Amino acid sequence: MSHKSSEDPKPPPKPALHFASSDLPHIAPYLPSAVVATSSVKPFVTITFATSLDSSLSLAPGTQTALSGPETKAMTHYLRSQHEAILVGVGTAVADNPALNCRIEGVGLEEQPRPVIVDPSGRWLVEEDGKLAECVRLAEHGIGKGPWVLTTLQEDEINHDSRRTLERCGGQYICFPCVPKGSQNQLQWRDIIDTLGRLGVKSAMIEGGGTVINTLLEDRNLNLIDSVIITIAPVWLGEGGVLINPPRRTDEKAQPIPVARLDQVKWKQFGDDVVLCGKIKR
Ligand SMILES: NC(=O)c1ccc[n+]([C@@H]2O[C@H](COP(=O)([O-])OP(=O)(O)OC[C@H]3O[C@@H](n4cnc5c(N)ncnc54)[C@H](OP(=O)(O)O)[C@@H]3O)[C@@H](O)[C@H]2O)c1
Repeated sequence: MSHKSSEDPKPPPKPALHFASSDLPHIAPYLPSAVVATSSVKPFVTITFATSLDSSLSLAPGTQTALSGPETKAMTHYLRSQHEAILVGVGTAVADNPALNCRIEGVGLEEQPRPVIVDPSGRWLVEEDGKLAECVRLAEHGIGKGPWVLTTLQEDEINHDSRRTLERCGGQYICFPCVPKGSQNQLQWRDIIDTLGRLGVKSAMIEGGGTVINTLLEDRNLNLIDSVIITIAPVWLGEGGVLINPPRRTDEKAQPIPVARLDQVKWKQFGDDVVLCGKIKR
């Protein structure tokens, strides 16, 4: 691993995004700020992603697919400015090399969300072929916060250089207890959310990808979700995409029942896309 990363030239700024204040009333009731402060340490959790008409997040696993138009892209960045953390799975971190920062005009480093990557088996590389992962590069230049990587690797299994690079930009590895060999390397969502809460995170926006959203929509995890904000783009992606298709739920007679339903629902058009906001019906 090279150590020249900190000498990378500062990335040229991407254009700042503007979210119109006239659009704010539509999403405001679904934001963490709408909730009266409680003594709960559980962070406010928003699920948000962009989907096609055939419930697909991308054309194929490992492929980044632009779905949001400029208006919903700006809305997503506004949402990022309203949450303390943005969480993605390692599938997304590897496929998209995402920046995981907020480009709304006027947002300083303090208000930037903390990137969080769920990477149980250490698949995500802090640096590859001498190039830093984009969110690390931005953090090194003070354009975003250093990422937290949630892993079941133990301290001595983590690459020294990766740890040093991550810590240099303010990030860290957060080690969860190992699960026995042979079982799925699955972290429990309750543990992930509790850990973020213990680390002082008051609100988290969970952006995907498919595995992350589908597992969060399992019955046992629904009570962790406070808001759902989905962008629906007017496009079909076709077979082979990364689908939002949570595991089937059945009743006591083994008959299929809906997995989850939203209430307090609002739909609004932003450009060519529609944004659906709601709360999980309890
Ligand atoms: N349209 C959108 O808004 C949007 C947003 C985000 C991503 N995407 C797209 O979605 C695709 C990626 O989705 P994906 O399903 O392949 O990957 P993903 O959901 O980003 O990550 C899945 C991986 O994360 C780890 N993981 C997730 N939840 C876990 C849990 N509770 N416990 C332990 N590990 C957990 C597992 O890693 P291990 O396999 O290593 O155990 C799992 O395989 C990409 O194509 C990306 O472009 C689209």
